[in-house]
Amino acid sequence: MSPSATSAIAATEGIVGETNASTTKKLEAVRPTAILHRTPWRPPVAVSGKGVYITLEDGRTVLDAVGGAAVACIGNGHPAIQQAIKDQVDKLSYVYNMQLSNEPAEELARVLIDSSKGAFELCGLVSGGSEAMEGVIKIARQYFFETNQPQRTKFISRQLSYHGNTVTTLSLSGHPARRLPYEALLDHDHFHQVSPAFAKRFQKPEETEEQYVERLRQELEDKFIALGPDTVIGFVAETVVGATTGCLAAPKGYFRAMKSVCHKYGALFILDEVMSGMGRMGTLHAWESFGDNEAPDIEAVAKGLGGGYASIGAVLVNKRIADGIRDKNGFWKHGHTYQAHPLACAAALAVQKVLADGTLLANARTQGEYLASLLRKRLQGPNALAAPYAFDVRGGGVFWAVEFDFTDPDAPHVDFKGRSFAMIVQARCLENNLIVMGMTGGANVEGTVGDHLIFAPAYNVTKEEVEKIVDIFVDSVEDVLRESFL
Ligand SMILES: Cc1ncc(COP(=O)(O)O)c(C=O)c1O
Repeated sequence: MSPSATSAIAATEGIVGETNASTTKKLEAVRPTAILHRTPWRPPVAVSGKGVYITLEDGRTVLDAVGGAAVACIGNGHPAIQQAIKDQVDKLSYVYNMQLSNEPAEELARVLIDSSKGAFELCGLVSGGSEAMEGVIKIARQYFFETNQPQRTKFISRQLSYHGNTVTTLSLSGHPARRLPYEALLDHDHFHQVSPAFAKRFQKPEETEEQYVERLRQELEDKFIALGPDTVIGFVAETVVGATTGCLAAPKGYFRAMKSVCHKYGALFILDEVMSGMGRMGTLHAWESFGDNEAPDIEAVAKGLGGGYASIGAVLVNKRIADGIRDKNGFWKHGHTYQAHPLACAAALAVQKVLADGTLLANARTQGEYLASLLRKRLQGPNALAAPYAFDVRGGGVFWAVEFDFTDPDAPHVDFKGRSFAMIVQARCLENNLIVMGMTGGANVEGTVGDHLIFAPAYNVTKEEVEKIVDIFVDSVEDVLRESFL
């Protein structure tokens, strides 16, 4: 493919929402595909990867600053994981989980329970984040079904949340754009929402942090009362919100307050750590550092569990849930054919062994702070071109986002010609050999405005790689701004 064709595609890839049938046809002519892609174009094909670098079909090497979708937590090509997968495929590739268990699955579950310092007692193994959250919904319901509270059928989650892309996990999610085509199919009787915990946007100027938390706590309690407290199964939240609003942690005391409401009414406190868990926030569980150290009754993890070496997720349950199930039926009334797959479990087990001594989590914290400090300096510093628009740099661990805002009337005027700034920057970064994740619609609860870009590099990212990420990103942002000034 010619370089001009590549850059024409990259430019077009920034125009999400504007691509029409004729653009798609033109792209198909350049890149034929039989895959029903998730983009109107066929993305460039990756052919190999090592660490945070990925080589594409045209020979270019790009730096993946977001681990795909906050997945590749130790990068590509780690020798210990490669060896573990090879060893397992030589020994045993598949058994069906209702007939036979397998060694890596048993060991992985034990490692996950033992590393939780008593927070969890049992672990269900599934094949990804949405499956984990489906599993969470079902185990939570099963718990009340088994413990003679069949009237508990309702979940409360939050606006601007994301819990998965199956019909039921979308019903739980507050992601307006992803819900839109399916709204008519979603379950509005059993899934209800309260406000997000988004201080920078929704805390009132006259409120202290404590008062804001108390307002959110009261809102949850009011929702319990409105629904009928004994009909609620539980409250579900991402410990740190990922896709929808971008690396958004809750105010201090928020999770303690929300958990207290759940337990006051006998319901469950449930955390979705599919994106933020397994070390992404610098601690194995995000709630240890960003959730008031309040363990949930049930937790889902996925992305950092297998680090992209395998499709895997897990549902972790505490003693209350484990006893509720064990004392009655004694087993999880839920399952899939590939659950606890030996190869996936061997890969995840190897990833968790690499993370176990804490060295990479310490590096994640150090490099994450460095990334944030560079982003703040270069985007929000006194002479930064982007400063009038760089609304927030937020996150923790090695999970950071920059939110841009173009509503300040005193800022130099820009015109993106109806396109989304975040998506233009994402495409420009790719042209400049950097992968970042652009997202839109996280700045209001309707999901109609907002531009943010997410960084989630591998936990073993180096200082030099962090500097390169920031250099390319800031150059790309500034180029797009310069081209857009009126
Ligand atoms: C918080 C959260 N929950 C659930 C999911 C769904 O996971 P998957 O895409 O693996 O199905 C995601 C995916 O981004 C997520 O961020």
